[in-house]
Amino acid sequence: MLILAVESSCDETAVALVRDGRVALSDCIASQTDVHELYGGVVPELASRRHAECIHALARRAVKESGIRTDEIDAVACTAAPGLIGSLLVGLGFAKAAAFGLGVPLIPVHHIRGHVAACYIAYPELEPPFVALVVSGGHSSFFEVTDYTEYRTLGVTRDDAAGECFDKAARAAGLGYPGGPIFDKLSAGGDPSRYPMPRAKLSGNPLDMSFSGLKTHMANLINNAEQRGEQLDLHGLAASFSQAVCRELTSRLAAAMRQTGLTKAVVAGGVAANSWLRKSAADALPQYSLYMPPASLCGDNASMIGAQGYYEFLAGRVGGMSLNARASCPADEALC
Ligand code: KG4
Ligand code: ZN
Repeated sequence: MLILAVESSCDETAVALVRDGRVALSDCIASQTDVHELYGGVVPELASRRHAECIHALARRAVKESGIRTDEIDAVACTAAPGLIGSLLVGLGFAKAAAFGLGVPLIPVHHIRGHVAACYIAYPELEPPFVALVVSGGHSSFFEVTDYTEYRTLGVTRDDAAGECFDKAARAAGLGYPGGPIFDKLSAGGDPSRYPMPRAKLSGNPLDMSFSGLKTHMANLINNAEQRGEQLDLHGLAASFSQAVCRELTSRLAAAMRQTGLTKAVVAGGVAANSWLRKSAADALPQYSLYMPPASLCGDNASMIGAQGYYEFLAGRVGGMSLNARASCPADEALC
């Protein structure tokens, strides 16, 4: 089955052609970092406008690079939730028009499930059940994935997402946007014990997380240094901060494995590209099978949407032309 897949939930427009949920024949991505870096974060109105400007040309390129003819496309899959509503609507509008014009079904896909499905492309042998940790600019959540379309939430962040914490700390330090890759690069060779970082103490669900304390600590540290005219050791700061964020994630991932008794763990989403997280997850889970997509499939892309779209289609989750985008929606809820 050949799926034309569309992703436009935030600041990347992407179109891909995916065969049987596992093979990406093409994946074209237009990043908007240049538009948003001036503001230190995504400006929703500018994001939707850029999606609208480039989605048609991107789709033409994706079809061309895949080497297929449009009459070979069996379905159109599209991120329908969650995300910036204006951005989602551009992709969904395009996907509806493409599905209608080609006379094929429209498959709505949950963005978080898409991030997990990036691993189906990277690891052809991977099948549920497994524990999934999805960490991105908008989400930090643990799931028990019992089947391709069956999700159970195990824990969530109570405030900021891990990626957002990287982005806001980079903005406070005047380092640019997005903060994750900037801190990742800076942290190489830095001393992770250089700046002690706080640990969140949460009552209730031990798999819930909190990153707002770390973010505030970073902002205070940077402001205080500025006011005193002190020069921060940026490599040490990046290493200390990266280690602190990753410690929160990997300690809970190990707890989620013990709690569920499952043997496979998936770590996906933009922050999964982080070198500290990749290493600390591998170190923390030596007795489990760990699946992390290559960096190229960690950030937003459309192959992951085509991969999950295939399994949503097999489960009969096909949407009609009245389908609407949703800015928020839990990953364990069906979209149609
Ligand atoms: O999955 P994604 O592309 O978009 C969302 O769904 O949010 O994730 C983007 C997030 C940003 O916060 C970015 O700073 C972070 O992923 N990120 C990283 C790295 N690369 C991207 N965070 C830490 N280390 C990285 N290498
Ligand atoms: Zn994402």
